[in-house]
Amino acid sequence: MMYGLSRIILCTTLLQGVTNAFSIPAVFNSDNESPGLREIELGELNFLHTTDTHGWYGSHPGQPSYDADWGDFISFIDHFRRNRINEDSKPKRDLILIDTGDKHDGNGLADATYPNGLESTNIFNSVNYDLLTLGNHELYTAERAVFEYYSTATSDKFADKYVSSNVEFITEDGKNVPFGNKYIHFTTKHTKHRILALSFIFNFKKTNDRAIVTPVREEVHKPWFQEMLKEFPPSKLDLILVFGHLPATDPNEREINALHEYLRLLYPATVIQYFGGHSHIRDFVQLDERSTCLQSGRFAETVGFLSINGIKSISHTPKFFRRYIDFNKKSFKFHALTKTLYTKIGKQVSNKIQQLKNILDLDYQFGTVPRTFYMAARPLDDADNIYNLFKSDILKRLNSTIPKANNQRIVMMNTGAIRYDMYKGPFTKNTEFIVLPFENNWNVIELPIKIATKIERYLNDLPYVVNSLAPPEAIQNRITVLDRPNKCPIIHVPWLNEGHSTRDDFGCDGDDTPHNTETLHHIPNVIQTSSIVSKDKDTVIDFVFFSFLTDDILEAANSIGKDEIPLFHNYTISHVHDYGGQSAKMLLREYIIDVSK
Ligand SMILES: *[C@@H]1O[C@H](CO)[C@@H](O)[C@H](O)[C@H]1NC(C)=O
Ligand SMILES: *[C@@H]1O[C@H](CO)[C@@H](O)[C@H](O)[C@H]1NC(C)=O
Ligand SMILES: [Zn+2]
Ligand SMILES: [Zn+2]
Repeated sequence: MMYGLSRIILCTTLLQGVTNAFSIPAVFNSDNESPGLREIELGELNFLHTTDTHGWYGSHPGQPSYDADWGDFISFIDHFRRNRINEDSKPKRDLILIDTGDKHDGNGLADATYPNGLESTNIFNSVNYDLLTLGNHELYTAERAVFEYYSTATSDKFADKYVSSNVEFITEDGKNVPFGNKYIHFTTKHTKHRILALSFIFNFKKTNDRAIVTPVREEVHKPWFQEMLKEFPPSKLDLILVFGHLPATDPNEREINALHEYLRLLYPATVIQYFGGHSHIRDFVQLDERSTCLQSGRFAETVGFLSINGIKSISHTPKFFRRYIDFNKKSFKFHALTKTLYTKIGKQVSNKIQQLKNILDLDYQFGTVPRTFYMAARPLDDADNIYNLFKSDILKRLNSTIPKANNQRIVMMNTGAIRYDMYKGPFTKNTEFIVLPFENNWNVIELPIKIATKIERYLNDLPYVVNSLAPPEAIQNRITVLDRPNKCPIIHVPWLNEGHSTRDDFGCDGDDTPHNTETLHHIPNVIQTSSIVSKDKDTVIDFVFFSFLTDDILEAANSIGKDEIPLFHNYTISHVHDYGGQSAKMLLREYIIDVSK
């Protein structure tokens, strides 16, 4: 494995002790006047929410809109709590910090260590979350499940804060135990709200052999859930809090909607607040007068803020307020009412991140990205679209190691393999983890042209399903075409950056930072490059694809073959062979080195 060598096994104690060596820096003064941001409105209950951080704890090089790192976030929370939720505020207020999972795959800080997340988990866990849970990326391998369970779910710090209502962990001796708590009941410190917290993950089917996921619709009929309902009837609760790794808007599975319908039957007047994740977008949904769901972006570029007022009122409906805070120092200072962001612990965590980057050599530079390549912010056929770059150049560079490779071939990849825009500027080892976090092998199957050329269309016509072949962000395209009542104006003014201009159930003003509208274009499930010249549709060519796609390719070829060829015999796995050649990561690296010469 080409990549095996560059993975570094770190000892967990390596970085411990290092952080204490750093002293508090001299006070940084910076201007904070009229930054043109939208304010937040505090309430009795206030929430800060992160989700789908995927190892992004070291800020976003090349994107000034997201220039804060995880240490800055910690400093922000400290100031925010002190200046805005202070102990003796009138009216009284509480703050609840929540994360909804997916902490692996997407950044070298997590992915360049073995096991994945070995050091980045410590960094993530330095936030004093009140409630946290897991995402599907914590369940991709048995090793990850074991690591998450012992390092976080049952850790001293989080044992009474970690909730996963529909995931079981399987212990060494084969016993099924809850992955953390099934639920938590608590009363808030200042406002004395009685809260029942639950956490569900979407119906994730590809889990490992140390964890079991039960679909939400089944889990709520289990005995523990029914007993919980008896213990906490509506009269004993002020709020139900469901924070989970499932999308707020889920047009296909509608899991959150099914859960809400069920809970609403049991708790007709209780405020039910949801926090979601997984589809990597900013989103806010009003489920009914007493229930909303907030989803706070991806990759540590959003801190979701939500407040609720009037929770205990019977006669009035509660007032919800949502805001998406850009993950940068300016926004953090503005909302926390501080001129100086740094706190001792925040600075220590920032130093620890830099230390880890250095040890993993993540800033090692292979070349320079000549201009920014976008996933969805430019149309597929645009020269600045990253999929177009793969189609028109990078995939063509693949060299087979099989002896009789056919020079007429199609090379296909799923768009979900690419996870981030590639920004103009240094192309580093970390850029590789960011743009293409997954390893791949190439498979080949020999197909007649009349089948091979129809596969792309077949796979792209499949309806988008969560966790499909396309990146999670592709759901954004679906949501923006859903018939929401409000349409937002297109903003295009010289002094703003292009970025989030979120449309949600509360309108067009959710983002704390006004951005120029970033139009999101359709992302197909798969892309391909073709070198077919033969006009004879029966000519057999090499159909080359990411091994991840094997089942999809066989299904497509068989479905097409049945229509094209009389007495067609299905292709099977025995027709599929290893193609060899450079991984997509290496192809991209070769391209960058070439264009940097
Ligand atoms: C890969 O193939 C290209 C032609 O498609 C050739 O120019 C290049 O030298 C080959 N590289 C290797 C490493 O074989
Ligand atoms: C052939 O493949 C198609 C598509 O995957 C499948 O529906 C069908 O059942 C298969 N037929 C046989 C005989 O296996
Ligand atoms: Zn995610
Ligand atoms: Zn996810």
